[in-house]
Amino acid sequence: MGQSKPVRKAVFPVAGLGTRFLPATKSIPKEMLPIVDKPLIQYAVEEALDAGIDTLIFVTSRNKHAISDHFDTAFELQTRLAEDGKTELLKRITQIVPDEVNLVYVTQPEALGLGHAILCAETIVGDEPFAILLADDMIRNRGAGALEQMIELHRESGSSVIGVEEIPDELTTSYGIVGVQVNEQRQNAIHTIVEKPKPEDAPSRLGVVGRYILDSSVFSCLRRVTAGSGGEIQLTDGIAAMLQTQPVLAFPFDGERYDCGSRHGFIKATIDYALEHDELREDMLDHMHRLLKTSGRI
Ligand code: G1P
Repeated sequence: MGQSKPVRKAVFPVAGLGTRFLPATKSIPKEMLPIVDKPLIQYAVEEALDAGIDTLIFVTSRNKHAISDHFDTAFELQTRLAEDGKTELLKRITQIVPDEVNLVYVTQPEALGLGHAILCAETIVGDEPFAILLADDMIRNRGAGALEQMIELHRESGSSVIGVEEIPDELTTSYGIVGVQVNEQRQNAIHTIVEKPKPEDAPSRLGVVGRYILDSSVFSCLRRVTAGSGGEIQLTDGIAAMLQTQPVLAFPFDGERYDCGSRHGFIKATIDYALEHDELREDMLDHMHRLLKTSGRI
């Protein structure tokens, strides 16, 4: 493939119901649940900004004001922190997204699935390649973020790119699973993609993680998709249709990924981020040491 347009826009589908975290998510979106002191959505937004994205498109549903409020100016709070001379805290709430970045909110009128949510962003994305980030997949990196790595591969190859990682047998029913073949450029070209297959039907153990860079032709494919796994319009099915006409690469990114849509993944992320935090690390280690001792593990 040749040169393609740069990836400038990122779509964040945030209209899900978050049932696995009820009652916490009864009145706030799951993307607003915090890992240490930042909500999940902010980590995903920071990953996108680090990768050079300049337009953030949130696909929301009713009752998701908390997300737009989070990225909006909080005059009262800012005035108060400024008056009290709390400049460090003030910086934390005023520099989340730089002024030159555009934020766009689109409503998904009905929860018809991830593919449908992406379709809701079509007019804003237009005719250019774009990124999708699912905020409940958190990816921790010391170097370049996962999306930045994927954008690099997209720049080199001109192809759509999907983030993947090896998953255990029993989890194929929780992920999109891809079948790949290594091409001449030593890239993993996807030949099959299936949403949440049983282990015996899965083409491999490579699971799709919530990072995608897709050609805009995925929209016309999605418009033709009918309800699939779970009775929903699946993004996976739109990508499967796209495979008929163009290459899509699977990319095993560098970084540690946490499934923050599940309680155990969420808690592991909290522990790991707390241990990286200068103010929390020592205290947390002491606490864990005590826990391991009293439980007889050490
Ligand atoms: C979605 C996608 C699935 C992907 C997963 C990654 O599923 O449909 O293909 O593997 O995100 O987190 P969900 O977790 O929304 O059920």
